[in-house]
Amino acid sequence: MRIVLLGAPGSGKGTQSQRLVERLGIPQISTGDLLRAAVKAATSLGLKARAVMEAGQLVSDEIVLAMLEERLEQPDAVAGFILDGYPRNVAQCEALEALLARLGQPLEVAIKLDVPSELIVERIAGRAAAQGRKDDTPETVRERLRVYAEQTEPVAGYFAAEGKLRIVDGVGELAEVSRRILDALPTPRAVRASA
Ligand code: AP5
Repeated sequence: MRIVLLGAPGSGKGTQSQRLVERLGIPQISTGDLLRAAVKAATSLGLKARAVMEAGQLVSDEIVLAMLEERLEQPDAVAGFILDGYPRNVAQCEALEALLARLGQPLEVAIKLDVPSELIVERIAGRAAAQGRKDDTPETVRERLRVYAEQTEPVAGYFAAEGKLRIVDGVGELAEVSRRILDALPTPRAVRASA
């Protein structure tokens, strides 16, 4: 199963991806996590990405695509993957489609988690207090939400035009949201019974 998980900052992509990893036995590939690891390791890529991320902007398409390509070529991604945080603009949609065509692994479904913005702000404030992520400050969150509205919202339309978009209500208990996602997957899966 090859899945893209879409949604605003704080909509629950990371949380639900981790739950899907357990259910589906395929890896989560989060471009945000890959970038944070590069920042932490102070690689040249991380040094370039750090200020951009802390400003709430998007890291350049070329950097993120190169990182994603390397990750998708790892053996554990052969059986499928959950892409969390990519694509984030229409150029990334096109790059992803070309990359997956080259790998012979076309995307099956794009799930968008729908969460109202007031709840998003509340959730990120909760995480900021608990984890201290550098881009969870009120100013950066405002910018991330602005960038999301401007650049990432059109991604849903891209997948809708391909008939691959499913919109899932992201409000509720974690297990309930997971069940809705599993129910939105295109083919019946035995794993749903145990969700
Ligand atoms: P990234 O790490 O992808 O951040 P994001 O998209 O802003 O998403 P978040 O991690 O904030 O939220 P989430 O949707 O995963 O929600 P979560 O599960 O954590 O990207 C960070 C930065 O990296 C970007 O700004 C950009 O600079 C760069 N970047 C990344 N990808 C890029 C790309 N493709 N191109 C260019 N740049 C890129 O949940 C949030 C909180 O809510 C948690 O505390 C959680 O416990 C809670 N929560 C979750 N679900 C529920 C629920 N159902 N009920 C109550 N609370 C819940």
